[in-house]
This record gives sequence, structure tokens and C-alpha cells, in this order.
Amino acid sequence: MNRLPPSEQRETAQVRWTLHGETEIFGNLEAREREVLRCLRLARETAAKAYAPYSHFRVGCVAVAEEKTFAGCNVENASYGATMCAERVALFSAVASGCRQFEFLVLSTLDSATLPDLAARSPCGLCRQVMAEFLSERTLIVVDGGTLDTRKEAVDLVTIDLVLPWKFRLNCE
Ligand code: THU
Repeated sequence: MNRLPPSEQRETAQVRWTLHGETEIFGNLEAREREVLRCLRLARETAAKAYAPYSHFRVGCVAVAEEKTFAGCNVENASYGATMCAERVALFSAVASGCRQFEFLVLSTLDSATLPDLAARSPCGLCRQVMAEFLSERTLIVVDGGTLDTRKEAVDLVTIDLVLPWKFRLNCE
């Protein structure tokens, strides 16, 4: 499957939203537009700081948890295997600051203009497993579908249950 079937398209003043899966989870998008736009800009700025001399694929992630904002970019390594993805940099930074209740994540690749397929902008398997550890079924995952010069922003909205069904979990409580 290269692309999730769009469940629903909605428009607000500045954003075209494509909602996937259980769309009632996403709530009032007008109320979220400002915050999502703020995080979208920060995610792109953070992607611009990516250290990606090997893949040249720049990713930014902004995690909002307990009213604080955490940003991460991918950091590559000559060993390749020691590379860290943007999502895990942001999530681990939040956890290291004592925040584990995530409201939403925004993922952005600066180069998404050349990546029309959502699969090329979606999180890798390792990051999905880390998200599954901390995100609730109500945490919004916002995937940036715009480019630096888009007039109307475009985003895809998903949740962890959609991107990682039948997830591995140990009941440690
Ligand atoms: N990358 C991320 O930062 N997040 C993902 O979910 C997918 C991949 C990075 C890792 C590597 O630096 C580059 O993108 C190419 O795989």
C-alpha cells in the first residue's frame, strides 16, 4: 500500500486537512489550526538543521507534550547504524524533560515537494514503535504535505493505531 485511503478532506482558513482512520478523534480543526501552523513552521526550521550528509533527506519533528514543545531533526552517522531519526530525537527529548503525555506530533520533510507519495513522508518502523510506547490513541500525528512556498498548507492526520496496528507492548504497570 503506497498511500492511505483518504477518509475525509476538510478545509480551514489556512490548511487543507486530510483525515485518515477514525476521523472523530481529530475534533475541532479550527481550534487546532494556529498551534499546528506554529509547529509546522518549527518542524521545517528544525528539518533545516538536520545533519544528513549521507541521505540528504532532512526531517524535522515537533512534539507537543504537557504544553511544552520539543523539536528534533535527524542526525546521521558515518556508521549509518548510529543514525537517529527526527521523531525519536523529539520524543526522547520530551521524556528527558519529564513530559510523557503527548498531544500531537508534527513531522516535516523539507523536500516533500519532490515526494508526492505519503509513504515517503511517513515515520519509519522504529519510530512507530517508539511512538507506540508513549502516544495515546488520541494523539494527533500531523504529516506535513506542504512545501516551503505553499500558499495553502496541506497536512495528513493519522494516529498511532492507524500507522502501527497490532503493536508490541509489555504490560509493565
Ligand atoms: N528519517 C527520519 O528522521 N525519520 C523517519 O521516520 C524516516 C527516516 C531519517 C533517517 C535518515 O537520516 C534519513 O531520514 C534517511 O532515511
